[in-house]
Amino acid sequence: MTTAAPQHQPRILSGMQPTSDSLHLGNYIGALRNWVGLQDDFDTFYFVADLHALTVPTDPELITRRTRITAAQFIAGGVDPAGSAIFAQSHVAQHPELMWVLACQTAFGEASRMTQFKDKTAKGQNANVGLFTYPILMAADILMYDAEKVPVGDDQRQHLEITRDLAVRFNQRFGETLTVPDAHILKESARIMDLTDPTSKMSGSTSPDKGLVLLSDEPARITKKLKSAVTDADGEIRYDVEGKPGVSNLLVIHSALSGTPVAELEAHFAGQGYGALKGEVAEVVVETVGPFKARMDELLDDPAELDTILAKGAERAAEVAAATMDRVRDAVGLLRPAR
Ligand code: TYM
Repeated sequence: MTTAAPQHQPRILSGMQPTSDSLHLGNYIGALRNWVGLQDDFDTFYFVADLHALTVPTDPELITRRTRITAAQFIAGGVDPAGSAIFAQSHVAQHPELMWVLACQTAFGEASRMTQFKDKTAKGQNANVGLFTYPILMAADILMYDAEKVPVGDDQRQHLEITRDLAVRFNQRFGETLTVPDAHILKESARIMDLTDPTSKMSGSTSPDKGLVLLSDEPARITKKLKSAVTDADGEIRYDVEGKPGVSNLLVIHSALSGTPVAELEAHFAGQGYGALKGEVAEVVVETVGPFKARMDELLDDPAELDTILAKGAERAAEVAAATMDRVRDAVGLLRPAR
């Protein structure tokens, strides 16, 4: 017998991988900023995707350190542990459990078409089975919490689509059990580009240090990186992603953080040079991101307190996860363990 999903405040779920020593401006503008904004109106669950980070070869000490750093940066960036559940994915054992059930509903060809797997293997990366099943674990992360919206950057769109497909398929096969989520992707700012190559996404794993603004960068460093951002030779400040990717990226960054529409920025900068644009973007970024470092350092100075926050978050998450797994067990016919 399948029991209906419980009534609850609309839920939001999202995660980030602990794959580098700091999140970057793309993570902040494409996702974290939106996480913060959604806290007041939704039941919000935000996690560090440490299991996903195992899909690439890593040093064990780095994973541990970066898991704490990522959680500290969520909080430094404005996620409130009193309101949102902040947790490490591996602390909620139901994630891989649900992943297995979903993997058994996923066609091999469907998983093979995921671009992340195709791209990484095409670049010669020695792929493991974890990388292949990565999107199914992500689907489990999302479906576990009956998430209605998933705030992510544009690069996660395909993963959200397979998640929706799996939820619909599961419900068709086994009866209404899982909530079909929507991606929450903000249009223009969902893809922040590398400052040294504005045709490539700003990425913690592939961009050079000069191409990234890190949330842990000191103000002087942030300013230096933005002032040397690659633009073009025609000198006009205009939004045109195809023709002027560097200038457009700077306008998007400014607009996302200052709240000024891009068209207004174009008018504001009319007749001015790129130096003026870069200087102002640097100011806006420093004003937003500059204070994060002190808060992050403070949190990292007290790892026990940080671990307590993660433990409390995991406790809240596990409660929801246990209820979902009961429904999933009932739906597919797995005997519930006696409690
Ligand atoms: P990850 O860790 O690569 O990125 C974290 C978030 O940052 C966004 N992002 C960007 N947004 C705009 N411009 C950019 N240059 C940029 N770079 C990254 C990403 O879209 C993402 O929202 N698979 C996920 C982690 C994950 C997850 C989940 C997310 C695991 N399970 C469940 C949501 C729900 C990932 O690797 O994100």
